[in-house]
Order: sequence, then structure tokens, then C-alpha cells
Amino acid sequence: MKNILTRPIGELVAANPIVANYKKMWPFVKPYWFRAVLSLLLTLPAGALDSAIALFMKSFTDDVLVAKDAKFATFIPLLIVGFVLVQSSLTYAVKYLNTWVGGKITITLRKKLFHKLMTMHSGYFDTTNSGYIMMRYNNDADAASSGLIDNLRKMVTRTCSAIALICVLLYNSWQLTVIAVGAFAVAGGLIFVVRKSLEDLVRKTVVVGSVAMRAYNEAFNGNRTIAAYNLQEDQEQRFSNLMNNIFSLNMGIVKHTGWLSPVMHFIVSLGLALVFWLSSALIVKGTITSGNFTSFVTALLLLYHPVKSMGDTYIAIKTAFLAIERIFEIFDLPVQIADKPEVKSLNRVSKEICFNHVSFSYKPDVPVLKDFNLKVPVGSTVALVGNSGGGKSTVVSLLPRFYEVGKGSITIDGIDIKDYSLHSLRDHMAVVFQDNFLFTGTIRENILIGRPGASESDLKQAIKSAHLEEFVDSLPKGLDTELGERGLNLSGGQRQRVAIARAFIRNAEIVILDEATSALDNKSEAVVQKALDNLMKNRTVFVIAHRLSTVVNADKIVVLNEGQIVEEGTHAELLAIPNGAYAALYNAQFKKKQA
Ligand SMILES: Nc1ncnc2c1ncn2[C@@H]1O[C@H](COP(=O)(O)OP(=O)(O)OP(=O)(O)O)[C@@H](O)[C@H]1O
Ligand SMILES: [Mg+2]
Repeated sequence: MKNILTRPIGELVAANPIVANYKKMWPFVKPYWFRAVLSLLLTLPAGALDSAIALFMKSFTDDVLVAKDAKFATFIPLLIVGFVLVQSSLTYAVKYLNTWVGGKITITLRKKLFHKLMTMHSGYFDTTNSGYIMMRYNNDADAASSGLIDNLRKMVTRTCSAIALICVLLYNSWQLTVIAVGAFAVAGGLIFVVRKSLEDLVRKTVVVGSVAMRAYNEAFNGNRTIAAYNLQEDQEQRFSNLMNNIFSLNMGIVKHTGWLSPVMHFIVSLGLALVFWLSSALIVKGTITSGNFTSFVTALLLLYHPVKSMGDTYIAIKTAFLAIERIFEIFDLPVQIADKPEVKSLNRVSKEICFNHVSFSYKPDVPVLKDFNLKVPVGSTVALVGNSGGGKSTVVSLLPRFYEVGKGSITIDGIDIKDYSLHSLRDHMAVVFQDNFLFTGTIRENILIGRPGASESDLKQAIKSAHLEEFVDSLPKGLDTELGERGLNLSGGQRQRVAIARAFIRNAEIVILDEATSALDNKSEAVVQKALDNLMKNRTVFVIAHRLSTVVNADKIVVLNEGQIVEEGTHAELLAIPNGAYAALYNAQFKKKQA
């Protein structure tokens, strides 16, 4: 078995999480490496002033205070002012460069994360909460890059400043240096004690934090339901519990790490006491001068700040690393629905769409479709009817590959849909969903999503066909009326008609209508239905409807129950089946209407 001694150095270095994290981040830093390095280089002199001051203290004490030589005293203040001016300018330049580099990397990370989000499949969105997405895709990018760059700079400045100060210490007295550096080393070693518990706590804080984001999201999107069911107090209670959790976690971090600084302070003070005790003996013996002593103590006091804050910087870097780990977890998520390496482009549907022995489940062990078979010749309309939860929407969401079929296959003209490029496959479909999503923007923009660049007359035609004309004309700004978030300032029926217009303008060969007219009143439905009949002409259509009056003309009606086809045929054929499922559904609705 390999151990530390036998494993190659390269492997050991790669296994080090810090090195591994920097390596992962490298592609993101690479385009800006010059500025990143420049800013690091500029920080070096900025950190050197402290040691210069400490060094001056020796000459000042020995020449001015002891030997009473005033010449030296005149130019020291000038030197200090000059030094500080240079240091301040450098600090500004470094701050500017760092923010620039950090900001660029954050943006690149966010863009790449968003790209990843766009490639994720529907199942990912079903099982991931929105707060988590906001936290991890947005906030982590900032925590990772700015946190890392900024704290790396601090770490470098402080290390350089510390090394320079230690040189001053050594110059003055190696004996005292041994004591002082020993005390600092013990204090610094404490950081490793808190490392483990810190990681766990930071992880938990992130999880709870994302739940808090979800709470805001639900308060926003669910505001009506909350009001209707008087859930305000309940929601507040839940939120309050969450906040208490976050508070405890943060206090946990302080409890586990907050003692670090004071304890380090104590150990360093002990070292300082020891230095004072020993130095009096050294001065009396003449081993060191008074100047050496003042210079040493000044350097020691100045050294305390960088060493002490290294603990905090370490924690900050650790937090940034955890954010990087989370980001790369997202990058490493498998893209489950994507093009095969070699794909065909779907140019035209010329024969038929077939579902061959399709089985599907959202969750393992809960089958939704079982051995589903269906042949839909091009240009025909198939209607899916049946009980709620029977799997109708599931059937039509497999066709654009929102989900991947479990067993069996779906073919278009004999070729598995997985062998077509996703883009070309979806390009041939127009979908009106059960609940349609409208984007923030104008009505025009929302309809043109169907076919960007469509002509104005096509747009007019689509609006007319979707029975939206009257409504649009009644608006002062017409088509350019801004919709609120998710189009919430439209009625349910109006939103549905915008979605229908979107499908019309797409002019696609395959049309999927999932309860497309369910939110319309009888009069508009009759009109939109006529328009939909137009849309359905010469196209391959999947239509799902509870109101059976809208499907009587379909070429084939499929009755789906618990994921299985129980009957299929034309309206007349199905009605003729004695005690048939379709006949029962139809008669129930027909009688209701008559009553
Ligand atoms: N995203 C999902 N994740 C897990 N289970 C789901 C998901 N969507 C639907 N289901 C389940 O799959 C089954 C079939 O749902 P589907 O939406 O296909 O039914 P449906 O026939 O369209 O019903 P309805 O007429 O009410 O729209 C249901 O039991 C449902 O609970
Ligand atoms: Mg449905």
C-alpha cells in the first residue's frame, strides 16, 4: 500500500485540498493572472513599512536618545511621511486591482454556473429548491472569488510583513527572537485545532441559509395561498425557527473559533513578558544596546497584528474554499439530458411518431407509465384523456425530452428521439403547458419567444387566432404592455391565450396542447378552439383535455388510467363500447351539461 513516504510528490500535492482548490480555480484566474500577480507584487512593499519603522527605532534610540545626535532626528520624520505616501498609493492600487480581478472571476463563475443551470434537466428542478439555487449559483461565486483573492492578498502581505519583522528581530537579538517566534508558533498552531469543527459548521450554515432564501421565495410566490388560508402566523413561526437556527449556528462558529483570537493574544502576551524579563539581563550584560531593545519591542508589537489576523484570514480562506468546493460540485453534476456525440438533425416529420413499450417513473419504484404503446401518424391528432394523475402530462413531456424514458423508446420516423439533436427536436414542437410561464417583459416579447424574428403580420395573425386581439386593443400600450413578474397582472385565461399565441407563431410540425383551453370561458373557448383547429390542421397534435367536447374530432382518443392505456379509438368507436371508460366519462360530462 502507498503511504506518505512512497507516494510520488506530485500525487501528494494534488491530494492536498488547498492545492487542489487553487488548481480547480486556475482556469478562471488564468485570463487575469497578470493583474492578479501584479497586485500581489504591489502588496509586498506595502507590507514592508512596519519593519522599516522598527529598524529606525534602533538608530533613533542609540543616536538620538542615548548619544544625543540631533542630525538623525530631522530626516526620520521625512522618511516616515515619504514611506507612508508610497504605501498608501500602493494600497490603493492593490485594492483597485484586487476588486477588478475578483469581480471578473466572480462574473465568469456566475456565467458558467448559469450556463450549467440552463443545461440541467427537468428532474433537477423538481428536486432542487429555489433558495438553494439562488444561494449556490449567485452568492457562492462571490464568496469563492472575492473571498479567495482578497484573503490571499492579505495572507501574502501579512506573511511578507511578518518575515521582514522577524528579520528585524533577528538583527537585534537572536535569543529574544527564539522566545518571541516560539510564542507566535504556538499561537499559530491553534488554528489547526479549530479547522475541522469549523468546516462542518460552515457547511450547515450554508444549508440553513438556502432554506431561508426559499422562505422568501415562497412568501412571494405563495402570497395569495398564504393569505387565503391564514398562514401568516404559521409562516412567521417557521421563519422565526429558521432564524434561530441560523443564529445558533453562527454562535456555534464563534464558540468554536471565537476563542482563537483571545487565546492567541494571551500566549503572545506571555511571550512578550518573557522577552522583557530576559532583555533586562541582556542589556545589563551589554549583549544588546538600548536601541536593539526598543527596535526589537517595536518589531514584536508590529508583528503581533499580522500574526493575529492570520487566524481570521485563514478562516476566511477556508470559507472561500468551501464555496469553491460547492461550485465545483455543481460543475460536476452530470448533464443527464444532452446530445449524444453523434446526432442527427430532425428536419421534417414525414411518417409517424411512435411510443414503443415506454415505461417511466419520476422516482425509483413509483412507476408512472407502464408499457405505453402509441402510434401517431404524421398530420393526425391524438387526444389523451383520463383520470387526473393518470400520466397524460407525463406522456407529452417525454416527447421534447424534458425527462428521459426509462424502458422502451420514442421514435420519430423510426429513429429514436435520443439520436436527434435536442435543439432540432424541440425546434419542431410548440407546447402549451398546463401552467404557462410568462417572462417579465412585454406581451409582444412573450409571444415572439415562439419564433424570434417573426414578421409583424405573423404576430398579428397569431394574436387574432389566439382570440387575444380584443384584449390587446383594449390596452393603452397594446402589445407593448409590460407584464409583471410571471405575467401575474393578467387573468388566467389571458395568460393562457398569450401562451397559445406563442404556440401559433412557432408554426411547428408537432403541437402539444396540455389543457390549453382549460382557463377559458365557454365563449372564448369555442372561438379559441376553432383557432386551434386551424393550428392543428396538417400537423401532428397531442391534445390533453378534461372537457371532452374539445377532443371529439380527434383522429384517435386514448384513455389513460394509472399509466396504462385502457381504451383507444375514435369518439364514435369508444362511445360504442358497452360500459366503456370513455363512454362513462363522456356521459358524465354530457349529463352535467344537460342538467
Ligand atoms: N415532477 C414530478 N415529480 C414526481 N412525480 C410527478 C411529477 N409530475 C407528476 N408526477 C406524478 O406522476 C403521476 C402522473 O402525473 P401527470 O402530471 O402525468 O398526470 P396527468 O394525467 O397529467 O394529471 P392531470 O389531469 O391532473 O394533469 C402523478 O401521480 C403525479 O403525482
Ligand atoms: Mg396534466
